[in-house]
Amino acid sequence: MGNYYFDNSATSHPKPPEVAKYINEYLNNGGTYGRSAYDRVITVSRMVENTRVLLAQVIGTGLTNHVIFTSNATHALNIVIKGFPYRNKRILISPLEHNAVTRPLMHLLNVNGVQHYILPHRIDGYIDLDRMRLLDLKSYDLCIVNHVSNVNGVVQPIAELKDLLGDVPLLVDASQSAGHIPLEVDKNNIDMLALTGHKGLMGPTGTGCLFIRNPELVSPLVHGGTGSRSDSHLMPEHLPDRFEAGTPNVLGIYGLYGALSAKVNPGFSFDDFKELLNRIGSLNSFRLVSAGNSTNQAPLFSVTSSRYSPSELSNLLFKRYSIETRSGLHCAPLAHKTLGTFPAGSVRFSLSNFHSSNDLAYLYQALSELDHDSKQR
Ligand SMILES: Cc1ncc(COP(=O)(O)O)c(C=O)c1O
Repeated sequence: MGNYYFDNSATSHPKPPEVAKYINEYLNNGGTYGRSAYDRVITVSRMVENTRVLLAQVIGTGLTNHVIFTSNATHALNIVIKGFPYRNKRILISPLEHNAVTRPLMHLLNVNGVQHYILPHRIDGYIDLDRMRLLDLKSYDLCIVNHVSNVNGVVQPIAELKDLLGDVPLLVDASQSAGHIPLEVDKNNIDMLALTGHKGLMGPTGTGCLFIRNPELVSPLVHGGTGSRSDSHLMPEHLPDRFEAGTPNVLGIYGLYGALSAKVNPGFSFDDFKELLNRIGSLNSFRLVSAGNSTNQAPLFSVTSSRYSPSELSNLLFKRYSIETRSGLHCAPLAHKTLGTFPAGSVRFSLSNFHSSNDLAYLYQALSELDHDSKQR
């Protein structure tokens, strides 16, 4: 049987075998992080720091201590959104943001009156850099951009965006891009980046990180023990401790180490993927919801059907073909409003390196049969 799990944007499956191997190693050996000096703790602390180094490599930074472990991307985004000093009370956001951004922003609006404004964009949600040049960018405190949409897979031009923003800090939500698209935060001078460990990076749930170039900008969200400067009632200023109160998810971090040290080559080519999109795009009863330009397309997309609701289609795909997908709004109502698929949402297909070109062919075959059925009725 092939790999018919197409819900990797929710969480990746399967995981590389190294994930279970390192989780087991931790379960067998135990020990806390950074809080004592016997061998077991030294080993654990070294593994946590080695994982931080691997994460720093993934996001392209030499500032390893500026990589803060979090429990997921939502946690990382909340640290910045709630701890940032808003002088003008104005934030720019992309039109494809997830609720992990828009819900904290609504909280900020209600509590502090900080307003958010949607960047000019094209029909597929891709930011329109030319029209963005017309904005008075200096009047905004912060810009937040979802690097890859979790609905249509549009990849935003974060390097060009940061060039235009100049001194206005940019927070990138790399939840759907990490593991798929190079991040290069140093090269592109990205100020802050949030990611989650369990999607494209193929690690366990409960892992993630925040990269923060200028930590003094942001106040910690959580206060507590760090195992350092314990004589003080205040959080330490140094990194990563300033943002890492409480015992970290060591078990998950071991698993993430396994995922980051594994090498999983993709079983399909980008040409196979483009061909799949072209073929689905030509099926009459489906609307393909993807990037307008395939050069800005990550390996995930949605469809809507003229015959079935998203949940009916998702159920049919599972019952008849064992294909696992996500239906509905994917926690991104703003993105669906932008793409014209609100309130019903869509059926999303998200790939991983564990798919083969045969799996993509199987998916197309299933959709074309359902398309054919629609014509018969
Ligand atoms: C674009 C985007 N941002 C943030 C998140 C939140 O990720 P997590 O649930 O791991 O915090 C997701 C997950 O679906 C996402 O797709």
